[in-house]
Amino acid sequence: MSSDIAAFHAVLRRAKRILAVCGAGLSASSGLPTFRGAGGLWRNYESTSLATPQAFARDPGLVWLFYSYRRHMALGVSPNDGHLALAKLAASQPGFLCLTQNVDNLHERAGHPEGQLRHLHGSLFDLKCSNARCDWIEHNNQADPLCPALAPASAPVQAGQKLRLLDPAHKLDHIPESELPHCPKCRTGLKRPGVVWFGEQLDHRMLAGVDAWIHDGPVDIVLVVGTSSVVYPAAGYAELARSAGTSVVTVNLDADTSECRQGDFAFAGDAASLLPELLEPVIGKL
Ligand code: OAD
Repeated sequence: MSSDIAAFHAVLRRAKRILAVCGAGLSASSGLPTFRGAGGLWRNYESTSLATPQAFARDPGLVWLFYSYRRHMALGVSPNDGHLALAKLAASQPGFLCLTQNVDNLHERAGHPEGQLRHLHGSLFDLKCSNARCDWIEHNNQADPLCPALAPASAPVQAGQKLRLLDPAHKLDHIPESELPHCPKCRTGLKRPGVVWFGEQLDHRMLAGVDAWIHDGPVDIVLVVGTSSVVYPAAGYAELARSAGTSVVTVNLDADTSECRQGDFAFAGDAASLLPELLEPVIGKL
């Protein structure tokens, strides 16, 4: 049966090379919202509609408030047992590579070795210049708030209350560009989040490295964790694996065994509780 944990354990024990593709559902039980479904609305905007260069060009203050809130939230939560289990798998299995679409830093904070982690969509804590001709970048900036104009995203909240910023009935003051941080190198662009927005290219050197890893030998298992698998190229890795006959193992609240081919597995539930159990033969008890 494709949701048989003992059968999966037998496959895992034999596996020499494992690829994971992770998404927002992995961080859900840490308390971070996903992009689609119930958690996908920010004020009255679809989260995905704010993740574009056009949205930033139109109203950088609004987009910065959205990302400042996400930075603030990510800094305030902890990695969960799913992140810890994947970090332990990396430490125990040199043939494991984890691709994450998440930009929240929780893999790193769980101790995932950097060499076995690729950030497909960048990081909330990297800052870049909005000017495409400028190469300024700053890594791991955890300032919260990033500047006084963005303080509403980091305001303290009393127990049982909601951040005012999140209430669509509370009108936002427009933040002029002069109050947002500017690039210290070219001095013309604005600082922007170091994440990949819709319509932007992923880092091709990173992608080439991932392709090289995939073609370096047979991949025994592709773990697809907490992602709706609708954004490419992330979604393409499982498709590629399926066509190569690799066992695809889905861990998702909505996992559906009816979509499994022979050799695939689907485990429905919270990634934070399922991953430690699924990976136990290699990582031991957490
Ligand atoms: P989505 O919000 O599209 O999907 C989250 C998935 O996680 C859904 O399939 C949920 O069923 C599942 N899920 C929710 N809670 C879970 C839990 N506790 N345990 C396991 N699964 C759970 O998020 P992503 O697939 O990550 O890109 O979205 C992909 C990309 O779209 C994001 O990286 C972002 C977004 O736009 C960019 O911003 C470029």
